[in-house]
Amino acid sequence: MAERRIALLGATGSIGRQALEVIAANPELSVCALSSRSQSLDALAAEHGVADVQVGGDLTDLLEASQPDLVLNAVVGFAGVRATLWALEHGVALALANKESLVAAGDLAVAAWKRGGGLLLPVDSEHSAVFQCLEGHAPETVDSVVLTASGGPFRNHSRADLESVTVEEALAHPTWSMGPKITVDSATLANKGLELIEAHFLFDLAYERIEVVVHPTSVVHAFVRFRDGAALAHLGYPDMRVPISFALSFPNRSATAVRPLDFSAGMSLEFEPPDSERFPLLRLARNAGERGGTYPCAFNAANEVAVAAFLDGRIRFPEIAHLVEEAIDAVDGASARDLAELVEADEQARHLTERRLAAV
Ligand SMILES: NC(=O)c1ccc[n+]([C@@H]2O[C@H](COP(=O)([O-])OP(=O)(O)OC[C@H]3O[C@@H](n4cnc5c(N)ncnc54)[C@H](OP(=O)(O)O)[C@@H]3O)[C@@H](O)[C@H]2O)c1
Repeated sequence: MAERRIALLGATGSIGRQALEVIAANPELSVCALSSRSQSLDALAAEHGVADVQVGGDLTDLLEASQPDLVLNAVVGFAGVRATLWALEHGVALALANKESLVAAGDLAVAAWKRGGGLLLPVDSEHSAVFQCLEGHAPETVDSVVLTASGGPFRNHSRADLESVTVEEALAHPTWSMGPKITVDSATLANKGLELIEAHFLFDLAYERIEVVVHPTSVVHAFVRFRDGAALAHLGYPDMRVPISFALSFPNRSATAVRPLDFSAGMSLEFEPPDSERFPLLRLARNAGERGGTYPCAFNAANEVAVAAFLDGRIRFPEIAHLVEEAIDAVDGASARDLAELVEADEQARHLTERRLAAV
């Protein structure tokens, strides 16, 4: 394979750093561009021999300048939307970790993807798993998809216990080591809600055909059920280097440093349904997804603001869901015809949530 030149957006984050490790270990991959929001990129650029770097600013300028073969979007939040749309519109292969961009801009992204005709490779471990289970199967043979959730650090907490959880407790994820925003999203199950909407757009599946199940050890990442009664599962230790490597080296499935599954000490796999009473954000995300238009965008925007407020110690954990519910109830959810209208919908939901926060 000719060397694949990768633009790595969000290089200083949890996914970004693991991606650099994967790229450094694979002679078929190289980095042609790096970005961050505010952290310096000097050391990373020197280490990886990268000329095009950008701290802050419009990521599409960096993409235009570097003309990559593949974009890995590992930015966190709505800030990743423009880069996602750029790659899809230009038919440049997109390895997508930034789930918020597909949630917020799903309709625009799918339209751009169809026009651009490039590859869209999921980096989220559950979606990478579904992608792999679906490979080689005709769409009409697929019955449904099941995404697994670890249940987060508060899986066994009562509603009363959830009132008093701390930021430190929310950041102590039982199975995955990730950036702060997604770690809090995993604790509220908003992350699985975002993934539900992401799966809808990635795999063109109706919401009633996407199920979520809690699986505390995160060894099974997803299932695909087929019409003949068979189900395929994707298993592996929870380690993001696997889906990152899969997406960056697709279709070659390059070797990684991750150890294969070991059954010598035995292994039991447990599953239970999610509890939407204690973790309402999963239900709210499903409702937002089913309503369509810019409801998913509003869900995402309100959640970003509420999570930042929780991390700043301004609100208690259960208030994240209350704020998101209030924002969704307040917006009109009208479809966005273009990026400007989407940005407007995002800002409207952010302002609503910030106003509510000021009153808390
Ligand atoms: N971490 C995981 O295991 C994991 C798994 C699945 C999916 N994901 C998804 O992958 C994405 C990245 O997650 P992460 O955990 O790697 O996040 P993270 O550790 O917080 O890193 C975020 C990266 O994005 C940059 N960034 C933040 N805000 C930005 C903005 N407004 N404009 C441009 N760049 C910005 C940061 O730069 P600075 O360092 O300068 O702030 C950093 O490089 C998220 O969408 C997350 O949901 C993550």
